Amino acid sequence: MEKLILICPLERVSDPGSYGFSLESGGKHVNGFVVRRDGECFAYVNSCPHTGSPLDWVEHQFLDLEGALIQCAVHDARFLIDTGECIFGPCPGASLEPLPIRVDSGNIYLLGDA
Ligand code: FES
Repeated sequence: MEKLILICPLERVSDPGSYGFSLESGGKHVNGFVVRRDGECFAYVNSCPHTGSPLDWVEHQFLDLEGALIQCAVHDARFLIDTGECIFGPCPGASLEPLPIRVDSGNIYLLGDA
């Protein structure tokens, strides 16, 4: 059965903007982040496909200065916001692992297993 696990209120994430989170889902620990852009939200596991390091250097900061791409703070890889595909840096063609989310009643939820 599907379970909604609260990540944060939608208003907590600016547009464009990002928000890192850490929570439990189905007995597993999930370190992830949400990116909001043009009214849409996307979420990924906070693990760079290059080395598995967390992408953020500053808390909740996962975007480049222009707010156009996800940026890994470790070796500067850049990823498309809507697909998580790496388009620049040491791991081209690799992708971030997407997380299923739902925006409902002003909140962002992770879809987990009950
Ligand atoms: S760990 Fe992300 S680019 Fe190297």
